[in-house]
Amino acid sequence: MKILIAASEAFPFCKTGGLADVTGALAQVFARTPDAEVVLFLPRYRNVGGGAFSPKACGGSFLIPVGNRVETATMSRVQWGKAAVYFIENPKYFDRPGMYRTAAGDYEDNDERFLFFSRAVLEGAKFIGFKPDVIHCHDWQTGLVPAYLRTLYRIDSFYAKTASVFTIHNIAYQGMFPKETLLKAGFTWLDFTPEKLEYYGGVNYMKAALAYADLITTVSPTYASEIQYRPEFGHGMEGLLKHRTSDLFGILNGIDEEIWDPATDTFLERGYELKSFQRGKAACKKALQKELDLEENKDLILAGVVSRLDHQKGLDTLLRVAPEFADKMQFVVLGSGDPGLADGFTALAAANPKRVAFRSGMDEALAHKIYGAADIFVMPSRFEPCGLSQMISMRYGTLPVVTRTGGLKDTVFYNGEPKDSNGFAIDHADEGQLRSVLGHIVSLYGWRENWNLMVRNAMRGDYAWHKSAEAYIKLFNIAIQRRQL
Ligand code: ADP
Ligand code: GLC
Repeated sequence: MKILIAASEAFPFCKTGGLADVTGALAQVFARTPDAEVVLFLPRYRNVGGGAFSPKACGGSFLIPVGNRVETATMSRVQWGKAAVYFIENPKYFDRPGMYRTAAGDYEDNDERFLFFSRAVLEGAKFIGFKPDVIHCHDWQTGLVPAYLRTLYRIDSFYAKTASVFTIHNIAYQGMFPKETLLKAGFTWLDFTPEKLEYYGGVNYMKAALAYADLITTVSPTYASEIQYRPEFGHGMEGLLKHRTSDLFGILNGIDEEIWDPATDTFLERGYELKSFQRGKAACKKALQKELDLEENKDLILAGVVSRLDHQKGLDTLLRVAPEFADKMQFVVLGSGDPGLADGFTALAAANPKRVAFRSGMDEALAHKIYGAADIFVMPSRFEPCGLSQMISMRYGTLPVVTRTGGLKDTVFYNGEPKDSNGFAIDHADEGQLRSVLGHIVSLYGWRENWNLMVRNAMRGDYAWHKSAEAYIKLFNIAIQRRQL
């Protein structure tokens, strides 16, 4: 099976969040499937290249129509394990300081940047002679690929049997643009109807994918249901999703168990496994307290956060509740995003220098150290399509404190009985509920046998990709069969 993955980010090349972890991991797990050949297409952003990977120019170029102009695309390639990674290059669109935005906001030409990328994926695959059986697209940035396949490329014999599968990682971001984008993207007014591309008078890339993809998946079973039946989760797409309910599947993400392995993690002060987690985590905690100039005290509960700073993550509730716990706990927060939240955590740390540390920006090394050192990981998300951080935490024996939503509900179990629990859960990102569960955690922490029982449950969980990868391959086969008919 020839699989083409089209995505706007993939670890280790470019990452703003879990999307990158997932597309990167999928490229590797699909490539290990017998008889699969995998290519991954990414934009060549400014920071790609150098380091461990040096993509080599493919030579030649091709043109992509954008409105009544044409733009040039070149490509470079790097072999990454068993997958080949192709970068679509155009300095005007991608050689910029940020991937999607700057501190001032989203790039104003994101419609052009990602219609260019989506179309260049289809032209690029032809350019290298890779005729995919299935194109697996991810989130709005690649939403036009399924639409192109069924419109502009409908009579293109190269793609006559190519199926498309679209995965929703976060339906809150849809790529909504004015109606003029329709023509820039090369569609005609005939495609501008509510069943196709039109959305409240404009063009919506996510909707385009949901209307045209052969099959749709999202990243957890609970989120698959929430986005169909709860408008506050569906963000306007619930009608279309219900209409396509028999084509929509929730497949839980996994984590890369080689990257996230406390036994071999070189960022940790001391590696550990199930049998040695007490000593290992104590050493990691001591080292992190020292590194961040926090009080070095092994008996204080250390609460960790590694997160995008965004309304989605509910961290404003933590910001309000944390001061009440600063005499009993320590908080280490690593986050990037919303400047208001960053200011809030900076102020909290300044007021409690020995109990609270805040670091802003993306920091891979510090993220690993926090997962290793912390006792609990706080993730009170308002919605969470899947969430990887709670699974990474559990693998590191760090008990997650989550809300019962999306993938958090599907992975964290808490019923008040330590023997059946692997973390803590509240119903909503609500100050009162967070206060109450943190209070419970403070009392339970002293009761070591029960605490360690929960840590063992968390560490024993299966967070690997194999089951989900199989589920994707099954769906790819179904989508491909449908195209043969
Ligand atoms: P989302 O994709 O919504 O941001 P996930 O839980 O699915 O949330 O994935 C987040 C991923 O990004 C995890 O691998 C997490 O460790 C990582 N991450 C988030 N913020 C940072 C940061 N500031 N520095 C390093 N890694 C981060
Ligand atoms: C999105 C979601 C997150 C999910 C990730 C990977 O960023 O917010 O919940 O884990 O995609 O699928």
